[in-house]
Amino acid sequence: MKQQIITVIKNLLNKKSTDVFIQESKTTELKKTLNIFDLLILGISAVVGTGIFTIIGSAITGGAGGVGAGTAVIISMLFAALASLFSALSYSEIAAMIPVAGSAYTFTYAAMGEFMAWMVGWILMLEYAIGNITVATAWTGYLCQLLKGFKHILPEFIINFPIWLRNDFRTIYALCEKYGWDVHDKMPFIQLPFGIEMPFAVNLPAMFIVFVLTVLLIKGIKESTRAATIMVFVNLTIIVSFIIFGSKYVAPENWVPFAPNGIEGILAGTFIIFYAYIGFDAVSTAAEETKNPQRDLPLAIIGTLLLCTILYICVALVLTGIVPLNNIDTQAPLAHAMHTIGKNWYAGAISVGALCALTSVLLVFQLGTTRIFYSIARDNFLPKNIMKIHPKFKTPHIITWISGLIVIIGSLFMDLNISAELCNYGTFTSFIIICIEVLILRKTEPNRYRPFKVPFCPFFPVFGILLCSCFMIYKGLSGGDSSLYFLLWIGIGLAIYIFYGYKNKRINE
Ligand code: ALA
Repeated sequence: MKQQIITVIKNLLNKKSTDVFIQESKTTELKKTLNIFDLLILGISAVVGTGIFTIIGSAITGGAGGVGAGTAVIISMLFAALASLFSALSYSEIAAMIPVAGSAYTFTYAAMGEFMAWMVGWILMLEYAIGNITVATAWTGYLCQLLKGFKHILPEFIINFPIWLRNDFRTIYALCEKYGWDVHDKMPFIQLPFGIEMPFAVNLPAMFIVFVLTVLLIKGIKESTRAATIMVFVNLTIIVSFIIFGSKYVAPENWVPFAPNGIEGILAGTFIIFYAYIGFDAVSTAAEETKNPQRDLPLAIIGTLLLCTILYICVALVLTGIVPLNNIDTQAPLAHAMHTIGKNWYAGAISVGALCALTSVLLVFQLGTTRIFYSIARDNFLPKNIMKIHPKFKTPHIITWISGLIVIIGSLFMDLNISAELCNYGTFTSFIIICIEVLILRKTEPNRYRPFKVPFCPFFPVFGILLCSCFMIYKGLSGGDSSLYFLLWIGIGLAIYIFYGYKNKRINE
């Protein structure tokens, strides 16, 4: 019995050697072509999206049962940027040292062993797949705003199609409560035995875009640097013009009270606006393809963070300056702000920019989900059958469909804020683990060549761990459905490992 327990513990801590990873990566060596400019483009295209175009509304007014930060969301943004900074530097150190694709899952396998690697992989799926429910839902919001801009051309049933065809049922309940509508007027109910009735609502546009992207991904979409560059310029142009144009309409009295819910609102805002900063892993995972990772990785990461933080703060000030706090929209806040000042054509332009940005984030995250699934299945934690490659398109079509279906099904019952909060829980956890890994690898592999080192180690990684943990604990203590769902997700991951992954790995090796 004792021997068995020792074997199980050994297996759980079983690491994949850093040398094996590096050796594997050498056989598929990528060209070192990326410079600081490419990395900045990559960073901004992965980071700027739903957070600033949509979630900012909930961070200001309060999302998923939480309280809002008000104009003090700018303080929340600074906190979120700081938490991201420490973790992103840690990502850079490990990515430059183990320049292998696979993100945090791979690094964890090298530093902490099999069990933690599985859990991190499982949590990364939360970040990517569940995070995409947020993006898909936000996509619907901006599509509806865009359609409104065509109200003189399009028929009424397209402009104002029923809300039960463009929302999940929880959002409809929330809207009915907010506006005093009767929920039975707004969505159909299915009658079940024993007098139970079940609300019926589907987010059709979100399902449609995920379906289209899934089909595209199966056909094999290649993300060119040029497309990313165009996306970034569209994003930045729209955001900068919103700041410049909108600033003329700012009424400073709308900024008072600055923090209507005090520190509680600021911390709740930090947790949710953190979503706007997610995407740094994209920069650090390009380490293998960077010409001068030691200099360019940290510069690109800090540059992206700085630029995004400045832009986000300006957007927040203009938004809260134009629209009184109670009227800020949570589905398409920037376009709605332009509607409120009567600039409908401008709202249309913002919607087009936002739809482009959200589509590209959706695509990158969907691709991310399939990569994580693929790495995990390759290591035998999930059935290898799902890795099957399409005979014609040469893409992992089963995994791509599974990833698409997760988002499509999730959008039926998860509202935008809950999925964003869940994604944040996942990202905070992976950030904490990355910071811990820097500390572990400095001890276990002190002599390995590190092209980039986190400055002020161990203080910076420890600050990262503390900050991310504080935000997670604060959010957990303040309640809300997302913390329960997060625990449920961890429990399901644990169960899959115990009843399937552990055994399957042993059988196959
Ligand atoms: N940071 C990315 C966004 O806001 C995930 O969409």
